[in-house]
Amino acid sequence: MSIIKDKFIIAGNWKMNKTLGELRIFIEKIVPKISDLQCEIMIFTPYLGFKDALEISKSHNLKIGAQNFHFESCGPYTGEISAEMLLDVGINMSLVGHSERRKFFGETNESVNKKIKKAITLNMSVILCVGESLEEREGNKYKKTVEVQIKEALNDISYESLENITIAYEPVWAIGTGKTASPKQSNEMCLFIKQCVRSIYNLGEKLIPKVLYGGSITPENCKEIFSMSDIDGGLVGGASLDESKFFKIAKIADDIIKGDM
Ligand code: PGA
Repeated sequence: MSIIKDKFIIAGNWKMNKTLGELRIFIEKIVPKISDLQCEIMIFTPYLGFKDALEISKSHNLKIGAQNFHFESCGPYTGEISAEMLLDVGINMSLVGHSERRKFFGETNESVNKKIKKAITLNMSVILCVGESLEEREGNKYKKTVEVQIKEALNDISYESLENITIAYEPVWAIGTGKTASPKQSNEMCLFIKQCVRSIYNLGEKLIPKVLYGGSITPENCKEIFSMSDIDGGLVGGASLDESKFFKIAKIADDIIKGDM
C-alpha cells in the first residue's frame, strides 16, 4: 500500500563542508541517479558552491539552497549575505534558524522572524528549523519551547505566505550526536508543530506547511522515520555529505512514497 506523501522532501544540510572540487564530484555523481525519484531533493551548500552546484544540477531533480542570509538588504554587516544577493545568483530558498546558527551566531526567534518576512517579500522559500535542547526535553519543556519558536518565528506572517515555508523539527540533542529521536517522538513533535500552526491560523484541516524531521538521519534508520504519518521528509546533516548515503536515503523515501516498501 502506498502512503500518500505528496511532495516528500529530502534535504541535505552541508553546513561548513566541501571544497568546490568535492562539491562537483558529489553533484555530478548524484544527479543522474535521482532523475527518476519522485521526492523533492535539495542540498543547502556553502555560499561559494552555488555557481558550480547550479550549473551541474541545472534541469535535474536537485534544488540548491542557502544555509542562512541577513534580514537587511545591504549595509554595514561585515561578513553577511543578503537574500537579494542569493536571488541575484539564482538561489531562491534557504534554511533559517538552524540550531547551530542559534547557538554559535546569536540567532533568535526575532531575527528568524525578520528573515522569514524578508524571504516572503522576495518570494523566496525557507525551511524554518526548530527544536528543543536536551535540558528542555528532560525537563519536559520541549513542547513549550517549540511552540514559542513557531509562534515567534511566524509572528505577523500571513496565511498565504505559509506556502513559502517548510518547518524542520530538529531536536538539538539529536543533531550530529548519533542519537535520533525515536520515530514515535519525532512523529509526535511533527504533529504537534502542525497543530501549533493550525491553531495560530485557525486552519481546521486546511493546508499547513510540511514538517520534516532532522537529527542523525542515516540510511539505516530513515525507513522507520519516513514511514510515520506526520513526517513529510528529512533534513539530513552528516549523512548528506556522503553521496552514496544521501542517495540511499532519498531512494528509501522514494520507495516509501511509491509504496514499494
Ligand atoms: P545531522 O544534522 O544529520 O548530522 O544530525 C542535521 C542538521 O543539522 O540539519
